[in-house]
Amino acid sequence: ATTLGAAAAEKGRYFGTAVSLNRLSDSTYSTILNREFNSVTAENEMKIDALEPQQNQFNFTTADRLITRANEIGAKVRGHTLAWHSQQPGWMQSMSGTALRNAMKNHITQVMTHYKGKIDSWDVVNEAFDDGNGGRRDSNLQRTGNDWIEDAFKTARAADPAAKLCYNDYNTDNWSWAKTQGVYNMVKDFKARGVPIDCVGFQSHFNSGSPYPGNYRTTLQNFADLGVDVQITELDIEGSGTTQATTYGNVVKDCLAVTRCNGITVWGIRDTDSWRASGTPLLFDGSGNPKAAYNAVLSAFGGS
Ligand code: G3I
Repeated sequence: ATTLGAAAAEKGRYFGTAVSLNRLSDSTYSTILNREFNSVTAENEMKIDALEPQQNQFNFTTADRLITRANEIGAKVRGHTLAWHSQQPGWMQSMSGTALRNAMKNHITQVMTHYKGKIDSWDVVNEAFDDGNGGRRDSNLQRTGNDWIEDAFKTARAADPAAKLCYNDYNTDNWSWAKTQGVYNMVKDFKARGVPIDCVGFQSHFNSGSPYPGNYRTTLQNFADLGVDVQITELDIEGSGTTQATTYGNVVKDCLAVTRCNGITVWGIRDTDSWRASGTPLLFDGSGNPKAAYNAVLSAFGGS
């Protein structure tokens, strides 16, 4: 295979990218998107503030264009994200208690109903754990009660029983980190009690403060052993040249070594599309040329 998506498909995986809708008119960007990827995630357009700008008034127009494009290029869609402390619309930021809990559930139900059958995996809950310890992040959602996460997953299952329901977070890649253990224990508890959860997303934003860990494969396997799929959902790697390429290749090899690691998404196409203000963390340079990191990913999948 000669593209990322086709090479990954030969190994039974998908290879996706975050897409920013306003970049689709850029022909270099669109050409790479259409050619290389068979899964897409909206970088911002399916977040709570984008889809429900006023309470119970939904705006699906922009996000629907992503679904259309995905269908045109034969890509599946990861939904991102239904419940999150960040990028909440103003009306939600100022809510609390039962009203907020009900608003969260209504958002999940309305959005998943609109997209029923069109989204392969949903990030139902995003980034609910604190950095640096194994506990929950303080947020307005957390203050509605510790059961808000399982409430979100149960609501999601009822809304679209066929969609895969994921918990997604960052800094959960290193098996020895407390945050990783905190999320692991939650998933273990959910599986033991029958709370519906199908997958765990590892964002995998690797940089000097949170580097690719040597035990990444162990982490993916240990979560998979709980009975969930694991997905690499927002991959980008600080650096350049051979060092960066080697790390990208290692991430792919780790996913391929774990049967239930069913796909990888990079968080943008060209370095200039990255959310990071500086650096060169992606697979294509600013002109759209494939980097050494691209070749490492392709060859790790057995393509060339
Ligand atoms: O839409 C406005 C636009 O109207 C305005 O002109 C412009 C001026 O700055 O801002 C635009 O909104 C920005 C939006 O991206 C779209 O470009 C927001 O300020 C900015 O905060 C937002 O950043 C996004 C960030 O999530 C917000 O939390 C990044 O694009 C996006 O890559 C990033 O993605 C997150 C994942 O969702 C969760 N995991 C971490 C990851 C990286 O931070």
